[in-house]
Formats: sequence, C-alpha cells, structure tokens
Amino acid sequence: MNVRMPTLDPALKQFVLFQDLTPPQLARIASIARERRFPKRTTVFLEGEKGTYVVLIVAGIIKISRSSSDGRVKTLALLRPKDFFGEMALFLPGHERSATAEALTDCRAITIEQADFEKLLKDVPGISLRIIQTLAHRLQAANRQIKTLALGDSQSKLADLLLTLMDEFPAAAGAGVVIPLTHQELADLAGLSRETTTRMLNALEEEGCVRLKARQVHLTDLDKLKKYAT
Ligand code: CMP
Repeated sequence: MNVRMPTLDPALKQFVLFQDLTPPQLARIASIARERRFPKRTTVFLEGEKGTYVVLIVAGIIKISRSSSDGRVKTLALLRPKDFFGEMALFLPGHERSATAEALTDCRAITIEQADFEKLLKDVPGISLRIIQTLAHRLQAANRQIKTLALGDSQSKLADLLLTLMDEFPAAAGAGVVIPLTHQELADLAGLSRETTTRMLNALEEEGCVRLKARQVHLTDLDKLKKYAT
C-alpha cells in the first residue's frame, strides 16, 4: 500500500540527491513522495516493464540484474540506503526498465512519480548535478566490471568482486570486513557459475585471504587478496 509521507523531511535530507536543498524544498519533496515497503525477495519491477517512478532506498539492499533468455542472471549492482534507482526509464525513449530490481532484504523506500520528478529537476537544477555524479560513478564501476569480465580469470574476477564489495559493506568499528552474500549471489555478481565460485572461495580460504562462514565471507587478509585481483 502507498502512504503519503508529509513528515519525511529528515529522511529526505540523508540522500545525496537532496542534501543541498532548503527546508521549503525538502517539504515540497515530502509532499510528492510516497513510502513503499518491499519485503525480502520481492520484485520491485522487471526488466522491460514501463517505468513511471524513481525509487530512493531508505533501508535494505536492492539487487539490480539482467537475465539472458536461457535464464542466467547477471547482477549489475547492489544498491543500499541513500542510493536511488529507476531513473533511466524516465529519461530513455520507450521508458522501459533497463534491468530488474529485487529486494535482497526487507526494504523501505520512497518513490516519486515521473511527472513530479521531472518538474522537480526543472525547478531545482542542483538535483540534476547530483544525478550526473551518481551516473558517472556507475559508469566507472561498470567499466571496472567490463575490464574484469574481459581480462580476468575466475580467481581474479572473484578477488576483484570481493574488493569492490568492501565499499558496499564497510566494516563496523573494530571489526573486519564481512560480505553477507551467498555463493550464488557472489556468482551472479562475478559472472561465474556457483560451483566455480565455491571452488575459488575455498582456494582463497586455504590461502588465508578469506574465512567462510554460513552465508558470509570474512575478508581476513586484504593485501593477499589484492595480489589475486587484476
Ligand atoms: P531503470 O532502467 O529505470 O530501471 C533499472 C534501474 O537499475 C535503472 O533505471 C538504474 O537506476 C539501475 N541500474 C541499471 N544499471 C545499473 C548499473 N550498472 N549500476 C547501478 N544501477 C544500475
């Protein structure tokens, strides 16, 4: 169910997109935003669907992926609180979603409808600059992925991925880095089979780079891990 959220201003301020806005501008966004909840494993939208809104993540992790006609899945990105997605369909002819978005954990989000979002961009141009900065970061990450997929062997693909995921799952104070993903989720991100991923993870564990626990990979020796990256 969609809920109007007139008291959203503090939650909105945490988004990089909105961080330079004045209180009246934030209040305006709160008046056009709706809160949505996506339980773990539910689909937010599917690749190819018509896109009519942009989504801002308040809590939880969203998986962005594309699948091939034979059912294989490539995860393009994991998005976290303060990230946004669903903007591409609004700007591209045909307005088709370029990828599937799925809640990897229970998620809370804010959605803004296309017409409201377009009007907002016209009235508050600073938001467009923030969007361009995010798109530049995404292109940088996609270029890294292309390089690894084209030039890396299985071991370096996995090592590159684990090092990239460090930014997504920063260590809590005094604790090591823990990547809370299953072997299948890592395989989808790295572009490897689940079997190869498990084999490579076991090899990295034998080398002391990682420690494997149920549904978690602890990065125990980053310098050693970097030696396996491309
Ligand atoms: P849209 O095409 O509307 O729906 C899918 C969304 O996934 C897309 O907008 C972007 O917001 C997001 N997306 C697509 N590709 C990537 C990527 N490589 N990295 C991060 N986010 C992406």
